[in-house]
Amino acid sequence: MKTALVLNGPNLNLLGTREPAVYGSQTLADVEALCVKACASHGFKLDFRQSNHEGVLIDAIHEAGRAQAAGTLAGVILNAGAYTHTSVALHDAIKGAGVTLIELHISNVHAREAFRHHSYISPAAKAVMAGFGVKGYGLAIAGLAALAELAQPA
Ligand code: DQA
Repeated sequence: MKTALVLNGPNLNLLGTREPAVYGSQTLADVEALCVKACASHGFKLDFRQSNHEGVLIDAIHEAGRAQAAGTLAGVILNAGAYTHTSVALHDAIKGAGVTLIELHISNVHAREAFRHHSYISPAAKAVMAGFGVKGYGLAIAGLAALAELAQPA
């Protein structure tokens, strides 16, 4: 059974109390529980992490690249939070690690402030999802399963 790594960046530990009109009232623990269920129904083992530190996220992406090369990881779902809009280093980490990665946002970043419209993650990502609220995590796990099927020779 392959692992799906769900990686959350800065301020996502505040889910539930942080701007609930934008991000909803579910906590990160609720999101993790939702991911456990989605992974169980798609045959993945879940590795769920959050960090407020760019370097910790970069190290996790490098580790994911090694795990994917070893055949134990299906890919990464990354909500990079505000680092999405600032981090060339995360862009380079995703490319350098060669990992299959889905960029995820709870909110529709394109309907928000102009500074959220540009993503350094998107050009390095396999797919991008935004605007489904925290349900997007479950949809992204389904998406990772679909990508894995696409990668299988017919
Ligand atoms: C976010 C959107 C980002 O612009 C913001 O900085 C976040 C959360 C989202 O999930 O909608 O921290 O990635």
